[in-house]
Amino acid sequence: MEASGTDSEGREFKNAADMWREELGEGGDDGVKKTQWYSHGVGYWQGVEASVDGVLGGYGHVNDADIKCSEPFLKALMAERLSGADKDRHLVALDCGSGIGRVTKNLLIRHFNEVDLLEPVSHFLEAARESLAPENHTAADNHRASNFYCIPLQEFTPEVGRYDVIWIQWCIGHLADDDFISFFKRAKVGLKPGGLFVLKENIARNGFVLDKEDRSVTRSDLYFKELFNQCGLHLYKQKDQRGFPNELFAVKMYALTPDVPKRVHKTRSKAKSYSPGIIR
Ligand SMILES: C[S@@+](CC[C@H](N)C(=O)[O-])C[C@H]1O[C@@H](n2cnc3c(N)ncnc32)[C@H](O)[C@@H]1O
Repeated sequence: MEASGTDSEGREFKNAADMWREELGEGGDDGVKKTQWYSHGVGYWQGVEASVDGVLGGYGHVNDADIKCSEPFLKALMAERLSGADKDRHLVALDCGSGIGRVTKNLLIRHFNEVDLLEPVSHFLEAARESLAPENHTAADNHRASNFYCIPLQEFTPEVGRYDVIWIQWCIGHLADDDFISFFKRAKVGLKPGGLFVLKENIARNGFVLDKEDRSVTRSDLYFKELFNQCGLHLYKQKDQRGFPNELFAVKMYALTPDVPKRVHKTRSKAKSYSPGIIR
């Protein structure tokens, strides 16, 4: 990514390579700085309350608008990609960086027979386990949360061919570019034929914005698309989130496939003058 970027303290970087070199070191330190990057990221979340407001950085009230926008996007993808041949298909999703299981509870568990959750912060995952216990959710009897993996994305490899959808929301900013690419390359094997990734993320207007507090990077649409190329992923569909407060970053959903899609849908995003805020 050639475009310049900034950090949360107002510092400017000529390009992403300069920023990553500074944050992660030159590679000559046996990965010490990279280990620190990840432990700071998880350490930040370890100090956050296990609640909707906590995982949404004090913006718990956007939960409804988030789900309302995600649901039709997911339903359209499922109708186009996952029913067709086999209507009785047993549907399985993975919720990455699941936090307390907010996305699973409000969305995924209603559409998938099984949902696995992956989250490196143990008190979030325990809260998810409790709130998704069969007696605490209202999804159908044959829909359940199955596996709870307490592991970060950069260390996870899914079981081969298990998932119809791998949902990644508001957590990929914690991954350095090389781990972003290797995660998606590894995770492709976890998709069933026709399966897809859904990535829902904050979008920087240009280049990137580094958050020094939680060690995450908000990337631009162009930055994401360059990374998707390097992952060997194809953009099947994208959609802009609507209805969020203006002070937040813009948010986009990307549906990505490892195979070349037959149809590519594009929605043009309207230029909006958001001043960046964060959900964290
Ligand atoms: C803004 S919260 C979003 C939680 C959830 N996806 C949601 O939308 O409600 C960010 C989540 O990313 C998790 N996270 C931080 N570093 C991570 C990593 N390296 N791999 C996976 N998840 C990570 C945090 O622990 C936290 O639960």
